[in-house]
Amino acid sequence: MQQIQLPKIGTVAAWRSHVRRLAAAGTPADHVLWQVGTEGTDLFTEAAPAPAQPPSARPSAPLTLSRDALVAIETALCHSDPQRFARAYALVLRLWQGEIRWGDRSDPALRRLLEQEKAVRRDIHKMHAFVRFREVSPPGAARRAFAAWFEPDHPIVEAATPFFAKRFGDMDWVIATPTLTARFEDGALTFQETADRAPPPDDTTEALWCTYFSSIFNPARLMVSAMTSEMPRKYWKNLPEAALIPDLIRTAPTRAKAMQDAMPTIASDHVARLRPQRPALAADIGLADLKPALDACRRCPIGACATQGVAGEGPRGAALMIVGEQPGDSEDLAGRPLVGPAGQVFDRCARSAGLDRSLCYITNAVKHFKFTPRGKKRLHQRPNQGEVSACKWWLDLERREVAPKLLVALGATAAGALTGSDGHLLARRGTVETTAEGQPVLITLHPSYILRLPDPVARARAEDFLVQDLRRARELIAHPPDAQEHPTAR
Ligand code: URA
Repeated sequence: MQQIQLPKIGTVAAWRSHVRRLAAAGTPADHVLWQVGTEGTDLFTEAAPAPAQPPSARPSAPLTLSRDALVAIETALCHSDPQRFARAYALVLRLWQGEIRWGDRSDPALRRLLEQEKAVRRDIHKMHAFVRFREVSPPGAARRAFAAWFEPDHPIVEAATPFFAKRFGDMDWVIATPTLTARFEDGALTFQETADRAPPPDDTTEALWCTYFSSIFNPARLMVSAMTSEMPRKYWKNLPEAALIPDLIRTAPTRAKAMQDAMPTIASDHVARLRPQRPALAADIGLADLKPALDACRRCPIGACATQGVAGEGPRGAALMIVGEQPGDSEDLAGRPLVGPAGQVFDRCARSAGLDRSLCYITNAVKHFKFTPRGKKRLHQRPNQGEVSACKWWLDLERREVAPKLLVALGATAAGALTGSDGHLLARRGTVETTAEGQPVLITLHPSYILRLPDPVARARAEDFLVQDLRRARELIAHPPDAQEHPTAR
């Protein structure tokens, strides 16, 4: 009987190298005792030593597994089942010997491994969603520092934390769990056994986060069962916002009723007085008189309801023109494109991509805000095809005047307006298409789409996509592809 002691850190990699050696020596699965750190040994611990046996027959083919099999097995090794190493080794041998096929769900051992893999993935997903950092920056520190406490169901720290390293690479952080602590300092991720089991101290960002959480909680869309299935109660004790939930649920019906009873917002007299005199439409409008011309535009009905027209902004001759869908509530009031919540997502992604917003020309496919009044709110409504076509006249004018090297279409409306194609956006994102005149258009996600994703992990991934695409836009304007060779998919 061979006893294998796996380290608590780097467990999976150590298991893999032992498996290679054991399999090459023909060691049967029931001749190995696996142990991690000081954790209890596996299912054979109590068994009497196995009688000396000849090594099992080794297949002549080298030990290789498909990528799917390897990923699933190594993920399942992050389960808390103490017998997982022995079971996984036995399964590897059976796969190698051709006794079972990967994916054969009629095999109970394989089925159990896949269930454990699923449980681990779910635990990792919950860790990504429910880790709450508190700021612990020492005064004057060059990098901000954060700490979090999380209690996963399985030993997933090494598998789950590279996500945070990617997401929060510009700050230092520590995530402690009851077993391992992940530490990210100056761009390097390391792991240690947890020494101090006390959760980190409170900080002021926690109060801000709670205020934000209450403000985005929509009482009219409350579904308690969906909410508790997405945010199971066992995580609540380490979520600062969880303390607010019972009260938010209790007061939701009254607040929803108050929203329904409230009157729609009508533009105030003050806003009406701000509306400039409307000049007549002329064919020779340039960028300088675009704003008053847009204020006067009635090519479609939207213009009559919005506060004002929102012209693009940025330098004439900008190499990059960013095209959104239409102004939102904040843009309609400010008279500037992409300055509200979607604009903040865009700005953050542009910064991460190394793009300077002030060097880009930022505009929208549609120049007025289309909305339906609901209570005191004005809810965004997607412009229809006729409205987009009516506004194309303005977008074409801006394209002519700015003459960018590259257009970036944020979302489906802009992509449709620029390319004339209404193919599915997610299938097109990250690709470069062309306008009817042959100008290149890089298709990417709209920041409002990202904001609307309910799942924080999906939101983070979508934001990464937008950053990647903006980075690519920056590279394309720095090194335009050969004019002959039309760039298409990446
Ligand atoms: N969404 C857009 O597409 N553009 C804006 O200006 C604001 C929100």
